Amino acid sequence: MSTLTQALINEIRSKVNIVDVVSKYINLTKRGKNYFGVCPFHEDSDPSLSVSEEKQIFSCFSCHTAGNVFNFVMEYENITFLEAVRIVASFAGIKVDSIKPTITKNNALYDIYEVSNKLYLNNINTTLGTSAVKYLNNRGFNSDIIKEFEIGLAIKSKDTLSKILLSKNFKEKDLINSTLIVKDERGFHDFFYDRIMFPLHDIDGKVIGYSGRVYYETDSPKYVNSKEHPLFKKGEFVYNYKRAKNECRIKNTVIVMEGFMDVIRAHSVGIKNVVATLGTAFTKEHASIIRKMANNIILCFDGDKAGAKATMACSDILIKIGIIPKVIRLEDDLDPDEYILKYGVDKFNEKINNPISIMDFKLNFLKSNKDLTQTVDKAAYAKEAMEEINKIEDEILKEVSLKKLSHDTDLDIDYLKGFITNTPKVVKKDLVVKTDKYEKAEASLLYYMLKDTDVIKMFDSKNIYFPTKEYRFLYNEIKCFIKEFNYINEADFITYIDSDLKQYLNNVISLNLDDTYDTNMILDFINAIKEKNINDQINRLERELENTTDIDKKTMIGQKMIEILRLKD
Ligand code: CTP
Ligand code: MN
Repeated sequence: MSTLTQALINEIRSKVNIVDVVSKYINLTKRGKNYFGVCPFHEDSDPSLSVSEEKQIFSCFSCHTAGNVFNFVMEYENITFLEAVRIVASFAGIKVDSIKPTITKNNALYDIYEVSNKLYLNNINTTLGTSAVKYLNNRGFNSDIIKEFEIGLAIKSKDTLSKILLSKNFKEKDLINSTLIVKDERGFHDFFYDRIMFPLHDIDGKVIGYSGRVYYETDSPKYVNSKEHPLFKKGEFVYNYKRAKNECRIKNTVIVMEGFMDVIRAHSVGIKNVVATLGTAFTKEHASIIRKMANNIILCFDGDKAGAKATMACSDILIKIGIIPKVIRLEDDLDPDEYILKYGVDKFNEKINNPISIMDFKLNFLKSNKDLTQTVDKAAYAKEAMEEINKIEDEILKEVSLKKLSHDTDLDIDYLKGFITNTPKVVKKDLVVKTDKYEKAEASLLYYMLKDTDVIKMFDSKNIYFPTKEYRFLYNEIKCFIKEFNYINEADFITYIDSDLKQYLNNVISLNLDDTYDTNMILDFINAIKEKNINDQINRLERELENTTDIDKKTMIGQKMIEILRLKD
């Protein structure tokens, strides 16, 4: 097994042309030296993404996403760095199945979850698991499904997992962080006990949490979920992502449900392009993960009133980012699991194949508690419906909905059109960091350092430092890279730095400055930084001056200030 060294990463990168790879995903047009396309990383219709063949990087001047070929594939496919390297390597005809990552983030937490999952999976197959298996079988989940979804069991004892984990040299901090172990005055004990355990996998398929369900009559809550921790955020969690991903792409449709039990049911009857949130409110983050899975999104929430309300809320979030979902409504207040059991998979499939349009759903929902033969209700309906129509950007859908509303209310369509407000344009995600003149100088200097090591020499000869911490780190990283590899370029440097510096590097790269520069330009940046250094030092000394009463000290500080101010010219 070869390890994925920086050198190998650089080699793979150099074997492909970023223009070819990006072209596999989006249309590019050549303009001047660079290629341009519509940026897939924010809502847009203008070609704000530029790809540089010469530098082998891309950057968007609107949302400031930037990077090399790996970053593009990673972002576009919503996958890990390692997966992106594998894909890019395959474009280059290099086989890297056996490459193992050198570093994975938060290793300990993943390991802790792996240990816990092994225990829970083992438990359910022992005699202690008999009644849990019976419960699952009674619900129609056979042993294949139990295996496939890695359903396990936390037994009654409250310290089985704690004992195992504590014996394994994990740091106490990591164990507590995982939220699987709780520490109180009685010592350590397990967070989950006496529950059927449904593991929650992240987008790479690693276990990062659980939902534990009771399996007999009891007063305790039906489900208990893992608490949030660095690898697990409920507002970003999508159940069944990894298993559903391929199927969603093939069918170009992703079906979103409210409960993971519904997902398991759908999957078990062969409908596999299904995901769920964890019973929490649907967030922007959910939307941005799910939108990448397929072009068509179908919301299939519970058939009750709460499910209808959740459908309204969820569709509003999707519409805001320019996605128009379709909707399935289930009769008798049933959830998808119950519906499939009661009416069978064929009837459910019929629904999936004929989802209703979001506006039909919304208008029906608004109508549902009104009596349209009553003038007051009719007026209220017209008003509420216009509010919904005003949320839509799609002109045709707007027109069709207005026709329908006009028909429902007997109001003239031209009259209704008087209530159209200006379409709220989809908000463009613009991460432009507010930068002052000094920060701009820092970023610009780094921009040219990545091009020419002479710029670094110029900077080093001046005895100054980058005022902004992150830019200072980037500068250090540049020097380390050069020391190790004897060259520098943007495309390879990007994979070298830590992810927390990435946004700062993006700011630098997406400056898209003129590639030709002269010494005076560089000196201007250097002087700006010098000025900032001086101002910072003076401010510090002034604070010191205020805080001291000692005359001698005051004199010393005063002298220092004069010396520093002299440097200014
Ligand atoms: N949920 C939860 N805690 C609860 C109840 C629900 O976290 N006390 C979450 C679960 O993720 C659940 C989802 O909300 O899957 C939907 O809740 P509900 O409809 O009550 O559960 P079902 O999915 O129908 O579960 P079951 O069929 O096992 O009753
Ligand atoms: Mn249910």
